[in-house]
Amino acid sequence: MSRNRFQNKVALVTGGNSGIGLAAAQAFAKEGARVAIAGRDPETLKQAHATLGANAIAIQADVSKLADIDRVLAQVKKEAGRIDALFVNAGVGHFAPIEASDEAFFDKQFATNVKGAYFTIQKALPLMPKGSSIVINASSVVNLGMPNASVYAATKAAVASLARTLTMELAPRGIRINVVNPGPIETPIFERMGLPAEALKEMGAQIVSQVPLRRFGSPEDIAAAVLYLSSDEASYVHGTSLAVDGGMTAL
Ligand SMILES: NC(=O)c1ccc[n+]([C@@H]2O[C@H](COP(=O)([O-])OP(=O)(O)OC[C@H]3O[C@@H](n4cnc5c(N)ncnc54)[C@H](OP(=O)(O)O)[C@@H]3O)[C@@H](O)[C@H]2O)c1
Repeated sequence: MSRNRFQNKVALVTGGNSGIGLAAAQAFAKEGARVAIAGRDPETLKQAHATLGANAIAIQADVSKLADIDRVLAQVKKEAGRIDALFVNAGVGHFAPIEASDEAFFDKQFATNVKGAYFTIQKALPLMPKGSSIVINASSVVNLGMPNASVYAATKAAVASLARTLTMELAPRGIRINVVNPGPIETPIFERMGLPAEALKEMGAQIVSQVPLRRFGSPEDIAAAVLYLSSDEASYVHGTSLAVDGGMTAL
């Protein structure tokens, strides 16, 4: 079914050059949005940009740096004038037992997943009109005791908490905010963990054994949830967390 829920709307997706963010950016574009994406890797940004239509905007930026976030919002303001749907998605995930987690490991994940998300929202707000929407990409790990996820899960719990606070702060401005909690989704995030192929395969099988639907989700599974939460169909959905995890957190 072809739909046009985002005709004449502007969507900004951080981390829109890979995985879940790319699928969401493409879904927004397909439904008529003018899409802006931000990410670090110039090559994948260029490739993603080419799939998003002639008026899409692609901005190279590291969201752990406030000056880069400023640059992203300045360019979106200049080229598109506003943001109707903000998908706060850029993130990194690294797993290690607590004894093996050093300061750099901790700081890198908090700088991107928490500081990046926090200031992306803060700096986007002046461009967001009444009726606009924010979706934060957290994770099912927020509701699981997953071994080796102590830092990553803490970053995602932090942004889930941020969404809860902002539910109250943003309501008077007519801006909705919600969280999507993906389960295991097949994206490059796993290859980026630096594990040998065999260990990665083993980890994948172990994860799938904990998913009632017995499979990884696709980036499109999450994109569909993000578009719903961002659309006017969800105009009374505010401050919720939507699990899209094959039933993993229902166990
Ligand atoms: N895949 C899963 O199973 C899963 C489950 C739950 C939640 N999530 C969350 O989903 C989000 C997207 O992850 P994904 O699975 O789609 O993985 P991915 O393919 O690795 O995508 C991560 C995206 O975030 C961007 N990014 C990372 N650090 C950044 C930074 N400092 N500044 C700007 N952009 C940055 C990446 O851009 P570059 O490539 O340019 O660095 C990339 O576009 C993350 O927040 C992740 O925690 C994923």
